[in-house]
Amino acid sequence: MDYNNLIAKAKEAMNYAYTKYSNFNVGAALLTTSGKIYTGCNIENSSFGATICAERVAFTKAISEGDKEFEAIAIVSSSGDYTYPCGICRQFMSEWGTDLKLIFENGKDIKIYTLKELLPEAFIKF
Ligand code: THU
Repeated sequence: MDYNNLIAKAKEAMNYAYTKYSNFNVGAALLTTSGKIYTGCNIENSSFGATICAERVAFTKAISEGDKEFEAIAIVSSSGDYTYPCGICRQFMSEWGTDLKLIFENGKDIKIYTLKELLPEAFIKF
């Protein structure tokens, strides 16, 4: 499958990032197995710790609307380089399966990994 549309949606979402403290904008677009797309951007907070990453915004939108089967997530940032998810997001996303594809773009080229490649031996207790 061609993920150019998903990358375009992630870039669009990046425009809504609230990054008063880091000025580092991230956009994500999450594709369900039924073809629906949920987008997310990072939303920072003056407490810093309450900041939420773009990936978790996209996931929480999807989960809270009843979707729980995902094929891929595209992640882009204003850095102009590949931007890989933080440890909290990797763990958070793993709850819904580690076969998820992660699509990264640096403004020129695309890289694709599975979540299990980026989070080997994931912690799944229950
Ligand atoms: N951030 C994300 O939104 N996703 C990532 O994958 C890495 C980091 C955000 C959190 C914070 O708002 C900013 O990027 C700088 O860390």
